[in-house]
Amino acid sequence: MSNSLFRTKKISTILSEGSDADHGGGGLKRVLSMRDLTFFGIAAILGAGSFSSLGSAVFNGGPGVVILFVITAIACAFTAFCYSEFASRIPVAGSAYTYAYASFGELFAWVIGWALIMEYSIGNIYVAFSWSDYFTSFLDKLGELMHLNLHVPDYFSNSYMEVKNAIKGGSTNPEILSAWNQAPMIGGLRIILDIPAIVINILITYLVYRGVKESRNFSNIMVMLKLAVVGLIILVGGYLVFSTGATHNWLPPDDTGIRNFMPNGFGGVMMAVSSVFFAYIGFDAVSVLAEESKNPQRDLPRGMILSLVICTVIYILLTLVLTGAVNYRNFEGVGDPLSFIFEKQNLNIGWMQFLVSICAVVAMTSVLLVFQMGQPRIWMSMSRDGLLPPVFQKIHAKFNTPSFATIVTGLVVGIPILFTDKTFVLDFTSIATLFAFVLVCGGVLLIPRKEKVQGKFNLPYINGKFIFPVIIIVAAAMAMYLSKNYFSDKIDFSFEKKVDAITALIPAKTTDSITVSAKLEEYLVAQHDTDSAFIKLTAAIQASPDAGSKISVAKDFVAKHDATQSRTNKISLIIFWLIMIGLGIITIIKNYSLIPLMGVSTCLYLLTGMSLSNWLWFGSWLLLGLVVYFLYGYRKSKLANTA
Ligand code: ALA
Repeated sequence: MSNSLFRTKKISTILSEGSDADHGGGGLKRVLSMRDLTFFGIAAILGAGSFSSLGSAVFNGGPGVVILFVITAIACAFTAFCYSEFASRIPVAGSAYTYAYASFGELFAWVIGWALIMEYSIGNIYVAFSWSDYFTSFLDKLGELMHLNLHVPDYFSNSYMEVKNAIKGGSTNPEILSAWNQAPMIGGLRIILDIPAIVINILITYLVYRGVKESRNFSNIMVMLKLAVVGLIILVGGYLVFSTGATHNWLPPDDTGIRNFMPNGFGGVMMAVSSVFFAYIGFDAVSVLAEESKNPQRDLPRGMILSLVICTVIYILLTLVLTGAVNYRNFEGVGDPLSFIFEKQNLNIGWMQFLVSICAVVAMTSVLLVFQMGQPRIWMSMSRDGLLPPVFQKIHAKFNTPSFATIVTGLVVGIPILFTDKTFVLDFTSIATLFAFVLVCGGVLLIPRKEKVQGKFNLPYINGKFIFPVIIIVAAAMAMYLSKNYFSDKIDFSFEKKVDAITALIPAKTTDSITVSAKLEEYLVAQHDTDSAFIKLTAAIQASPDAGSKISVAKDFVAKHDATQSRTNKISLIIFWLIMIGLGIITIIKNYSLIPLMGVSTCLYLLTGMSLSNWLWFGSWLLLGLVVYFLYGYRKSKLANTA
């Protein structure tokens, strides 16, 4: 019996179990072709990220978000190669979890499996919420057209947390106010819940429970439809951007009035990292269908990379159309950006708005379907290994699907719909998935190189010995070229300290605003600042006519310059560069392969954009996972119990 936390599973064992009926592997039907897998990839990728969270991404970063789409696409492409390498070597269900078992060992495998719950189940909560947004607006438009009242009451189409937080933040959004004020009450509790989100989750769970073949046909039709409509949005929107001469929107004026592709700087672009990355999640879901694919060695990698390439092109074009059609500042709080650009005050095409909302519902349904199929299959693998109770690998006698795990997935997605909100689940999903991607790419570095095999996917080996350190040096030099104090800024926290000091001077409720504003001015003047942001703030406060407006100028300033976020980003970047140096040195010694190295580096870079609260929530989730592992999996693991 092995007690090691790093006990690894042999690839040959994983493969033999995958096709072994005793382990459930033989129970799944091999029906999926390469086209099906590519379609599954697109079905999982194109969804709430482009139809919903793209609005906030563009609002934060302006047209420059295109750059983040390119960076993220590169990170995902490297990761897709690594997934493909693993998927071609270990073509059984389980995704990153199975791969980690073969490379890093059991503890890491468990951690990845645990993190993947975020990607597959919690991510679907965001998609279900967005689905509900578009579905209710589709019903409204249909109602207008047919002169019927199809409006779902706002208190039954929004989540409780979202409404409560918005009310707390002083929202004036009429939908939020109506949900809060008109909600029925039981005792002192307002009944506010997102019924369409719950209903779609139940329907999808049922469909997945019934079987992969039915789901596949359904999925393929949906993908074709959404590709056609997204293509139309790009053509019509793109044509109008040029024909109306709106291309100047690609260079909007920044705070100082200078036209800039990144009006909020690169920092603004990086604030969009959760939204942008979320839009790419999904290509990896293809790998969990290994056991249902006809020729996994050949088709899995091709399907994954093809779907990623297609979606990347679509995202870049969509972002350009969006930011060309409307000034990026107008996307504040817009949850349906692709339909928003066709509204009266923008491009003004009513029928496109209608079409986009139908398409959004279709697109998000297919995302829900793919992830809801993926989760039970990961749990099935974990159960085979003894890390989860045996019931998770139970295959339905008639439908050939992991029935129990499918129902649990439905509950894991459905129950939190009652208690969470969109922003929270979006951040949570992105950080956990990026984390899993880093480990997958790192895993490829650890497995032994294999001989090239004809007809199989072979990850090209490029020795990173010299190239990788050179890439790091060039990247660091470029960063310093673009911003002279790039590195010294990262270890200088005086800006954040000053923001903290200003925050401390403004009490939540001001009774004596004259004293507060005098203290603010006194503090700023005493700093003799050389930083342009503080010089501007001092001037703005001095120019404000009364104490109240001086305080609100200071409040706006601290809201815009979030000291905690800025500190977190700086510390993350310091850690990032230190890891790069370490990785560079190890590569010189160990001749690591360049593609997985680039996957690790680019995914780690994207992680530097995450917020502190995001890290804390994710850390707590991992901690909980460790507790569960030591209470159950560590002792019940098959590896622990085999001689
Ligand atoms: N990429 C998927 C979406 O955007 C998760 O909905």
